[in-house]
Amino acid sequence: MTCVIPYEEYESFDELSAQDRQLMEEAIAATETSYAPYSNFNVGAALRLRSGRIVRGSNQENAAYPSGLCAERTALFYAHSAWPQDPVEALAVVASVDGTVTPTFTYPCGACRQVLVETEQRAQAPLRILVGSAQKVLVFEGISSLLPFVFDNLPEKH
Ligand code: THU
Repeated sequence: MTCVIPYEEYESFDELSAQDRQLMEEAIAATETSYAPYSNFNVGAALRLRSGRIVRGSNQENAAYPSGLCAERTALFYAHSAWPQDPVEALAVVASVDGTVTPTFTYPCGACRQVLVETEQRAQAPLRILVGSAQKVLVFEGISSLLPFVFDNLPEKH
């Protein structure tokens, strides 16, 4: 068996559609609200709801390290708590260090991918994920390319 991971690679923000470019720019703007005194790694996420509303999130750290939260889940949980009936259609993530966007991609961590799976299930439509760097952007059309063989077999689903 072979598992194929489909994704698009854009050489620069200029190649993105206006909608995608806006989401990446919002994610970069979100890095400015990051609270990361322990890692100095400022992550920004921006998501677009079906209504068109853009919601930003950034990583929020804590002296008790595991108590902090990634930028993606900050944005996702904020959106779902404020607009529970408005499905998430797309999410962009990027990071900056010392005010400069990193040259490397910032992929969602495993825990965020698990939350993105359920976000997609709630929306009942593929969730577009934009993984940013200073120049290139990778686009994944649906979380299953980032998290295959997902755990989702809770008893009530059987
Ligand atoms: N972080 C995120 O916010 N999102 C990711 O996708 C990767 C990691 C945060 C967690 C922590 O505050 C810092 O980056 C360093 O791991």
